Amino acid sequence: MTLIIKSDFIDTPDSKEFRIREEAYLVVQDGIIRDFRREMPRDLGDGTFIDYSGKLMIPPFCDMHLHGSQFLQRGLGMNRELIGWLNDYTFPREARFSDPDFARRAYQPFVDALYRAGTMRSAIFGSLHREGTLILAELLEEKGLDAYVGKVNMDSNSPDYLRETWEESLEETVSFIGGMERFSRIRPILTPRFVPSCSGELLRGLGKLAGERSLPVQSHLCETEKEVAWVRELFPDHRGYSHVYDDTGLFGGHPSLMAHGIYLEEDDLERIERTGTVLVHCPDSNLNLASGIMDVTGLLDRGLPVVLGSDVGGGHELPM
Ligand code: GUN
Ligand code: FE
Repeated sequence: MTLIIKSDFIDTPDSKEFRIREEAYLVVQDGIIRDFRREMPRDLGDGTFIDYSGKLMIPPFCDMHLHGSQFLQRGLGMNRELIGWLNDYTFPREARFSDPDFARRAYQPFVDALYRAGTMRSAIFGSLHREGTLILAELLEEKGLDAYVGKVNMDSNSPDYLRETWEESLEETVSFIGGMERFSRIRPILTPRFVPSCSGELLRGLGKLAGERSLPVQSHLCETEKEVAWVRELFPDHRGYSHVYDDTGLFGGHPSLMAHGIYLEEDDLERIERTGTVLVHCPDSNLNLASGIMDVTGLLDRGLPVVLGSDVGGGHELPM
């Protein structure tokens, strides 16, 4: 099936270039962009032609870090910094996703809003709950969006009502991955919440799973100074935050998306560089929670890839 679309097009092949094609013809075959032409293609046989002259087409947005379970609380609790915000606002609300009916009602408006925002690709944290997170995946698939979706892992420093043992957490994750096989657009991603939420056993178990099954990983990294200091206390034998992820198999060998990366030291940067870990810049969230300012240009100048995330609900809005 050939589809030809006439329009004005803008895209960004890399972080420095805007590519502008005025009154061009986009050639799509079997759902894949094959070509841009300056003249109406006449050599491609039968197909569908859509005339969007005078309109602007851009690639869809990609939100590489956000929490579906925090959509309804976006922008709330911003009188607190990260740890207080998690304990007092976020954890009690995420706990409600243990109820599948609540999860369905809460995730549907999230998925609809994501679609309206033009975010066609994303990497999403669900909640600790397998069933609720599978419902999120189902709603995304129905909407025709592409996404990585993760069941969140937490076995440490978390309230009783939002915590598993590390054994349960790994079993539930394996079962979650099995449940995700029925989807074609939505894929599983391993989602340890952040180092303080996870024991060494849990992190190592997830790292092993990532290696064995070639699964991507997403988490948070060096978001606030207090969190970085806490990780040092929890893992005194490690050189820093990234060393914990690297040592447990969560960096390298598979894609890793790490949100924030505000307080990175040289050891972190070397590990990120060596393992091809991708940092996700979430500016709204960083300002809302007074976490700090990421050195985006410094990281880009060093040749590290930096992508963008809304981090809803730390971020207060979805549109990229
Ligand atoms: N670190 C651990 N959990 C979270 C979360 O839900 N949001 C943000 N911004 N940081 C976190
Ligand atoms: Fe986040």
